[in-house]
Amino acid sequence: MEHDAIISFQNVSKHFGKVKAVDHASFDIQRGEFFSLLGPSGCGKTTLLRMVAGFEMPSSGEIFLDGQPMSVSPPNRRPVNMVFQNYAIFPHLDVRGNIAFGMRKSGLSKGDLNKRIDEVLELIKLPGYGSRGADELSGGQRQRVALARALIKQPKVLLLDEPLGALDKKLREQMQIELRQLQQQLGITFLFVTHDQEEALTLSDRIAVMSEGQVLEIAAPSQLYESPSSRFVADFIGTMNFFEGTVTAITANNMTIATQVLGEVRTTCEESFPLGAEVWVAIRPEKFRPEFTSPARDIDSIEGRMGPSAYLGDRSHFYVHIANRDDPVLVALQNLEGSVHQLSRPDQPVWLRWSEDAVVVLAKD
Ligand SMILES: Nc1ncnc2c1ncn2[C@@H]1O[C@H](COP(=O)(O)OP(=O)(O)O)[C@@H](O)[C@H]1O
Ligand SMILES: [Mg+2]
Repeated sequence: MEHDAIISFQNVSKHFGKVKAVDHASFDIQRGEFFSLLGPSGCGKTTLLRMVAGFEMPSSGEIFLDGQPMSVSPPNRRPVNMVFQNYAIFPHLDVRGNIAFGMRKSGLSKGDLNKRIDEVLELIKLPGYGSRGADELSGGQRQRVALARALIKQPKVLLLDEPLGALDKKLREQMQIELRQLQQQLGITFLFVTHDQEEALTLSDRIAVMSEGQVLEIAAPSQLYESPSSRFVADFIGTMNFFEGTVTAITANNMTIATQVLGEVRTTCEESFPLGAEVWVAIRPEKFRPEFTSPARDIDSIEGRMGPSAYLGDRSHFYVHIANRDDPVLVALQNLEGSVHQLSRPDQPVWLRWSEDAVVVLAKD
């Protein structure tokens, strides 16, 4: 267990019959972190969260919360609280009643409780809403009340299972910013579940990417995006162009990879691959720079022809056909002033440039 871990998963597995919902998870979450579990539907995120909450017991392994093993701690004694996707607030209670609901056995005097309710109403930016009925609230407001109900118990860890999943995009983005501010203000550890990679990138200090019950990689958002450690992660976070290659030269700081499509690709090497290794060369769509005249010979570039394009408002996607490759290469460009239509002529010859830094090399397995 690391020094200031608030949650430590030690070899935690959970089986439902033959389904390995969580498969040997071992990692720590630091005190005060905004930590996200990210992965496709069914990869085991909710199960992992429910084990922390105590709604499920691990089939094997142990979860430590603030140094205490949880196998001996019933759900209601754990210093955690959970917020669900479908804001489970009571329709027959007003906002105050909903927030106070879990505090009946707290032993607080009526005056102290009311003060705490006012404080959390302030936190969730709904002061003055105490006497509103649940049916007089918008979806976003209801989710704030659900949040307040969890926060009033002052948990050490807040567990959030796709809490913004039911909100429309604009409101979700606004709530993301508020959630992040709230977490920083309170200094509580947030363990957040989402299948939305953009949401995870926006919110998190660190992200654990999961697939089929396994934690594949844990890293900060920029690290996951810029230098993912596997093809799955590279593909799941954002969009990536992949090219097959073979390592042909290695020096202290550089590696050369022979590819059929891009020719010789040089890269600054972080990962170590043996000479002759079969690898994926991966380049993000926005790392290609299109040009309409042939670049100098010593510049890394590939010639292609413009294919279809898609206008996405702030940016456009261009599909570029290049020789020896069935799928077009995806290129993303910001729509800065005057740049929109220049690229959209089909069949126009185009040269895609990239820099050594843009190249990610991934093991082929
Ligand atoms: N109570 C349960 N009984 C049987 N199978 C379950 C149960 N809960 C989850 N599973 C299975 O475990 C896997 C992981 O589910 P879950 O943790 O809900 O994934 P996620 O939250 O990432 O979508 C899925 O295959 C799911 O069908
Ligand atoms: Mg789930």
